[in-house]
Amino acid sequence: MNPMPTAPGSVEPGTVVLVTGGARGIGATLGRHLAAEGAAVVTADVVEPAWDVDGSGVTHVPADVSDEASWRHLVDTTLDRHGRIDALVNNAAVYQGLGDKRPFTDITVEEWDRVMAVNTRGVWLGMRAVHPTMKQQGHGRVVNIASSTVHMGVPFFAHYTASKGAVIALTRSVAREVGRDGITVNAIAPGLVETEATRALNDDEYLATSAGRRAVPRRMEPGDLAPAVSFLCSRGSGFITGQTLIVDGGVAFS
Ligand SMILES: NC(=O)c1ccc[n+]([C@@H]2O[C@H](COP(=O)([O-])OP(=O)(O)OC[C@H]3O[C@@H](n4cnc5c(N)ncnc54)[C@H](O)[C@@H]3O)[C@@H](O)[C@H]2O)c1
Repeated sequence: MNPMPTAPGSVEPGTVVLVTGGARGIGATLGRHLAAEGAAVVTADVVEPAWDVDGSGVTHVPADVSDEASWRHLVDTTLDRHGRIDALVNNAAVYQGLGDKRPFTDITVEEWDRVMAVNTRGVWLGMRAVHPTMKQQGHGRVVNIASSTVHMGVPFFAHYTASKGAVIALTRSVAREVGRDGITVNAIAPGLVETEATRALNDDEYLATSAGRRAVPRRMEPGDLAPAVSFLCSRGSGFITGQTLIVDGGVAFS
């Protein structure tokens, strides 16, 4: 058990959380937020962090989530440092690097395979890598970052939406396999979040129109996702599994 009581919806202090894609964007915000709540955070990414991980007490490990050996190194480093892994946030994805939106007929096989390798295989490899530890602990939380593009059927993004649809399917399937081990697996499907990556892919008019379509009609920041992630990483969420929580200000309703 974690040592200290905590506010409902927050992660318990001391919870060991691994956040992939934590160098920038949403992953950086999640890493900062979880660390501020008292979690022991390890971030992983293929690029160097664009924020002060050391100053936040966060450990950063260079790792490619599409690569099995990277996962072994990441799990070993986390266990060496913290002795356990309570939660995994599978946030890394090819998103900023997608390039311009374009018809499905114009996506190359190489682009398709790369997106699937990182966004889908990476999530599966991550769950597979932490499973022995979580099973032995009799406790674990997995939060997979999907996307509401799956629910909205966003066009000109076929490889990306397919990769995130597969994340939702994987979440359900693995949740059924590991529930008896004390492990929950859930997905969060964010709407359009204003990050550097989003601004590179969408012009301001599109972002403003998207904001206006929400039941809560404003722009979405990475921080809007953080409380949902904390909750799903906390012990209090233990009877929720296999679910996809859409966090988009009220556009898609599941
Ligand atoms: N921004 C949005 O509007 C939005 C909406 C829905 C879902 N999402 C999802 O949220 C997550 C974060 O998105 P973001 O906006 O911060 O995008 P981003 O591109 O800024 O961040 C993704 C991070 O993943 C890292 N990454 C890429 N390939 C990797 C690999 N092979 N191994 C390890 N790390 C790797 C990148 O370096 C980057 O730091 C992604 O899963 C994205 O698909 C974003």
